[in-house]
Amino acid sequence: MTLTVLGLETSCDETAAAVVRLADDGAVSVLSSVIASQIAQHAPFGGVVPEIAARAHVESIDAIAARAMSEAGLGYEALSGVAATAGPGLVGGVMVGLSFGKAVALARGLPLVAVNHLEGHAVSARLGAAVAYPFLLLLVSGGHCQLLEVAGVGACRRLGSTIDDAAGEAFDKIAKAMGLAYPGGPALEKLAEGGDATRFALPRALLGREDCDFSFSGLKTAAGRLAEKTTAPEDQRDLAASVQEAIARQLTERSERAMKLYAQDHGPDQRRFVVAGGVAANRHVRARLQAAAEAHGFSFNAPPLAYCTDNAAMIALAGAERLAAGISDGLDAVARPRWPLDQAAAVANPTHAPGRKGAKA
Ligand code: KG4
Ligand code: ZN
Repeated sequence: MTLTVLGLETSCDETAAAVVRLADDGAVSVLSSVIASQIAQHAPFGGVVPEIAARAHVESIDAIAARAMSEAGLGYEALSGVAATAGPGLVGGVMVGLSFGKAVALARGLPLVAVNHLEGHAVSARLGAAVAYPFLLLLVSGGHCQLLEVAGVGACRRLGSTIDDAAGEAFDKIAKAMGLAYPGGPALEKLAEGGDATRFALPRALLGREDCDFSFSGLKTAAGRLAEKTTAPEDQRDLAASVQEAIARQLTERSERAMKLYAQDHGPDQRRFVVAGGVAANRHVRARLQAAAEAHGFSFNAPPLAYCTDNAAMIALAGAERLAAGISDGLDAVARPRWPLDQAAAVANPTHAPGRKGAKA
């Protein structure tokens, strides 16, 4: 049965709604994808202010959802279900999208799917190309940095994650130290163009270890110090290029370790590597990862650029995949600030304890 799902995303600073169709044969079409960014409202504070975000979501969610429906050319009666991000994220914002989704589900008699935002990123590459399960996933965004074996809908095994900051957070904080505008990732990528990536030596984290964990705090501190004394534009360009390369290098090295692990129990026809999340929009990161995937006999997929950063099309698709598998949620589904994809690994591994200093997922 073809499924047509309205997706809602409000977990951070984007209010987004989208309508996605998943056909019987697995073909995916995005009928609409509307994203209202709150960047201008948060920019004066140099980062996302949760209270401002929640209020802005409340003010715009109904108009954004109505626009997604009208751009799709559909009435609510054409929907098979509603999918809303239920976490992890800034809980005030998550509650807005989830409550709106519940209201639509109740009023229209539709099934609700409470979607894990990370599962949305995990399926996002499928918005651009057919990527079969299972695959190895590098999820790199502002709040998350992890390597996962994705066996199917909702079936993830974590191979590694960050022990401090996420890669996007490292981009953002270093960019801020260099005086670049928020959000820093794209600004740093632009500044790095034509820069000499070998100019500054930056620390390499967790080199003596064999696992797939990440750490960016040492790099962040070192780059922050260099940023203070690097003021000439050419020098700043070289520093940006060196930082971008240091982050790309760590992402690539850990992904290569994960590819070796994954290849132990997955044959050549299952060796698929996917990168998703906001940092997947970085061209240098993509190129480094693609070369590594090819060298290890993996296919390479990344979402179309528009679906790397937060969007509702990925939430709608994750919801549609769940509905296709017969899974939906009750109207008592709760908004969750933390919600690891691999719950078992998160509980078992004490280095990933929750809390301000713990890994974000
Ligand atoms: O997936 P996303 O929109 O939100 C989260 O779920 O966190 O990711 C946002 C992150 C930010 O840290 C942003 O700086 C980073 O992705 N980002 C980039 C680029 N575009 C977005 N980092 C490096 N280069 C980019 N081009
Ligand atoms: Zn995200």
